[in-house]
Amino acid sequence: MELTRIPHPAPTPDADRVAAIADPGFGTLFTDHMITVDYDEGKGWHSATLGPRQPIPLDPAASVLHYAQEIFEGMKAYKLGNGTMALFRPEANAARFNKSAARLAMPDFPEDVFVDAVKELVLADKDWFPSVEGGSLYIRPFMFATEAFLGVRPAKQYKFVVILSPAGNYFKSGAPAVSVWVSDYTRAAPGGTGEAKCGGNYAASLVPTGEAFAKGHDQTVFLDAAERKWIEELGGMNLFFVFDDGRMITPPLRGTILPGITRDSIMQLAREQGLDVSEEMYSIDQWRADAESGKLVETMACGTAAVVTAVGKVASHDGEFTIGSGGPGQLTSTIREKLVGIQRGTVEDRHSWVMRIE
Ligand SMILES: Cc1ncc(COP(=O)(O)O)c(C=O)c1O
Repeated sequence: MELTRIPHPAPTPDADRVAAIADPGFGTLFTDHMITVDYDEGKGWHSATLGPRQPIPLDPAASVLHYAQEIFEGMKAYKLGNGTMALFRPEANAARFNKSAARLAMPDFPEDVFVDAVKELVLADKDWFPSVEGGSLYIRPFMFATEAFLGVRPAKQYKFVVILSPAGNYFKSGAPAVSVWVSDYTRAAPGGTGEAKCGGNYAASLVPTGEAFAKGHDQTVFLDAAERKWIEELGGMNLFFVFDDGRMITPPLRGTILPGITRDSIMQLAREQGLDVSEEMYSIDQWRADAESGKLVETMACGTAAVVTAVGKVASHDGEFTIGSGGPGQLTSTIREKLVGIQRGTVEDRHSWVMRIE
């Protein structure tokens, strides 16, 4: 797809940019450019543009504002040791984007164009790469319905957009263990949109997450909606349970869990390390019993934002329990180092997961 380039009339002055990327935080700082591609039924995707990041005019009747036809992805550009920027499994994000699109009755977006668009934008804004240790460029591709129409049916017009947000190290002083709250709310029902990365899922998670924060916890654990028994995932991360006999399990993808790319990568790395990894249902009662008996030695949470984090404490209306020593366990640290090492080019990339952007 041909990309039209519109020069930025007033890019951020160098001194301001340099100051901003020295302490970027997360999610509030944005680079100068964005990519947009439009879709019209009958015409397909067209008008791919790399131009200044700016507000997007939207008709008040645009279907996204009424029926939430919106999907997104979350990925990062890292810097390898030699300063080359690289993406981690971007084709997996492109494939998941299209699965989300299919569930939300939205058009397929060509996966090669998705990856090319991300690469082009990262290159255009390469000077925005954070100067802080452990920094990355967070990449947010998204698609939403633009057609002005109030009937409830799939829209006939969409916009695909990519923006970038320089991000600091998620945990400024190493990776601590997080404390999680088991929510009474559910995130996704069987047959619903749990496995799609659509904005609506996150809107529905805000109240439970707010409740977890108010109680002093870092994240929310969601149980299954049918039996309120089986552990599914955190608000924005997948889970792994590690046992003292070398077994490791993660909840199966039953349509209600986001199929994390970090989750998939960890399954492969742990198997190569000789662990017996399986996708198995695991109940909240068993989690408590195994933590209390010492059979469960670690619980890992994983996702693009924080890569791998230990869960140290679990709290619910039934009280609290601690996992292992309450801090990061051995396997969590090993897996984290391996994955971060692959992403940063210090550990051999045997799976060809890293795509250089040059
Ligand atoms: C609900 C949810 N689960 C899991 C994940 C982890 O997915 P990934 O490893 O692809 O970042 C995310 C983050 O994107 C998420 O939002």
